[in-house]
Amino acid sequence: MTVHIGAQKSDIAETVLLPGDPYRAKWAAETFLKDAKLVNDVRGMLGFTGTYQGNPVTIHGSGMGMPSLSIYVNELIRDFGAKTLIRIGSCGGMQPHVGIRDVILAMTSTTLNSPSSGIFKDLNFAPCADYGLLKAAEIAAAKKSCTTHIGGIYSSDVFYDERPDLNEQMTRHGILAVEMEAAELYNLAARYGCRALAVLTVSDHLQTGEALPSADREKSFGDMVEIALDAAFA
Ligand code: HPA
Repeated sequence: MTVHIGAQKSDIAETVLLPGDPYRAKWAAETFLKDAKLVNDVRGMLGFTGTYQGNPVTIHGSGMGMPSLSIYVNELIRDFGAKTLIRIGSCGGMQPHVGIRDVILAMTSTTLNSPSSGIFKDLNFAPCADYGLLKAAEIAAAKKSCTTHIGGIYSSDVFYDERPDLNEQMTRHGILAVEMEAAELYNLAARYGCRALAVLTVSDHLQTGEALPSADREKSFGDMVEIALDAAFA
């Protein structure tokens, strides 16, 4: 048991999928895992553990933004022994060739700030995905015929952005999409010798203003869960 995760150590698998939304964790566990059982509900942040093709998996909400994800990922790694952590979530497209429903595999993520900025101080640490996971996810996505982009993303501190100039610079430098969690997941995985990846679906587009209709969100989210699970056990 930790401050934020009311589970026994044996309740949490070494492989953890991290959607931002706790109800997405519930849906994904009930849809893709066998024998999924609730292992955490502290503060309504749901976590479930079951098996995927015989492999133990935990699907646990991270909440929104890097400070929230940092709490859960620190505890999952340091207290529960998680070794492979894959964020599954949505992002906003930032390039004309990136379309709604496309899948983004984040090779690295740029930030203005993160919960790790305090320890990096004047360093610009480059957080990066685990290459084995990234490669396996690319293969898994190709089998699903998802349009997939691999490259840099932007982990922003804010959803309601008052600095359009930053988005312009991100776009100018080839950043594929914006979300709010991946960079700190990669920082923590680097610090503790774990494997991490962010598999994202483009739910909206900053340039076109397009957004994924809510009826389509479940299917796109399902593809992402399967890509993450297949990559984890490739
Ligand atoms: N900004 C930040 N995070 C997001 C967005 C966005 O536009 N879309 C999905 N996650």
